Amino acid sequence: MNAQPTEAAARFLLIDRVSKAFPTAHGASASLVLDEISLAINEGEFIVFLGPSGSGKTTLLRIVGGLETPTTGAVFLQGERVVGPDRKKGMVFQSYSSLPWLNVLDNIKFGLKYRTDLSPVEKDQIARSYLAMTGLQGFERYQINRISGGMRQRVALARTLAAGSQVLLMDEPFGALDAQTREFLQEQVLQISRAERKTIIFVTHDVEEGIFLADRLFIFSSRPARIVEEIRVAELLPAERDLDLKGSNVFFRLRNHAKEVVRAEALRAQNYEERVRSD
Ligand SMILES: Nc1ncnc2c1ncn2[C@@H]1O[C@H](COP(=O)(O)OP(=O)(O)OP(=O)(O)O)[C@@H](O)[C@H]1O
Ligand SMILES: [Mg+2]
Repeated sequence: MNAQPTEAAARFLLIDRVSKAFPTAHGASASLVLDEISLAINEGEFIVFLGPSGSGKTTLLRIVGGLETPTTGAVFLQGERVVGPDRKKGMVFQSYSSLPWLNVLDNIKFGLKYRTDLSPVEKDQIARSYLAMTGLQGFERYQINRISGGMRQRVALARTLAAGSQVLLMDEPFGALDAQTREFLQEQVLQISRAERKTIIFVTHDVEEGIFLADRLFIFSSRPARIVEEIRVAELLPAERDLDLKGSNVFFRLRNHAKEVVRAEALRAQNYEERVRSD
């Protein structure tokens, strides 16, 4: 395994030839989930992963977050090898990860728990600034089980931002939300990513959501995952985006193209499975 990053010095976040195999239930040959994935990400970039179910997107995100170790290869953040989870990398999942026994404000403050350099007053100020940024003002004292799913996702986002994470790893964070709330949060997360210059990796099944958010969008193959296509959305869409953009021709073309690639990949995988079964 190589200990030295190949181009880590030049890049903010480097996924360097990462493979992952899980042992099978019967302890027989391990099954390969990720096949030598390499990806160099710049600071402040909004990266989207799109791909078939079970292709390994969550696994890769967990490896970047330090929650899972790669079988071969490595991840480097600012030149340092990722060996476990820490505050630099914040995760927001599809399922609401808020702490139900705390109110909204205390959930956000929870992200600041380990900041011994901050006074209680400073923590309160920081928490309130992210509360406002995520549009939760007025709900400070609400218990988590009294707010909607969309608001809970905003709490989770605010908490991760308050923790000072440089990299936000978002795994289908809006997957369980209704279309309207989802679009509202898409705009909001984009604004926050620009304002805070956060580096984000965002997993979605929704092609439109992916195009709307991405600077670069990566389409994964079926398992074992490889990257079948990179779409450089930032070269075609403006950095400042609002929902009207979804009605534009260029958006339409990008969306159709991405859908075609996803569909072709799904077909290829299906044909492959049929061939394997008939052998
Ligand atoms: N801890 C584990 N042990 C064994 N196999 C695992 C483990 N975690 C994931 N897998 C397998 O790895 C493959 C990829 O899973 P993963 O959750 O990363 O896919 P995904 O692309 O996120 O799918 P989805 O879009 O449905 O969320 C699956 O076949 C899954 O069963
Ligand atoms: Mg997943």
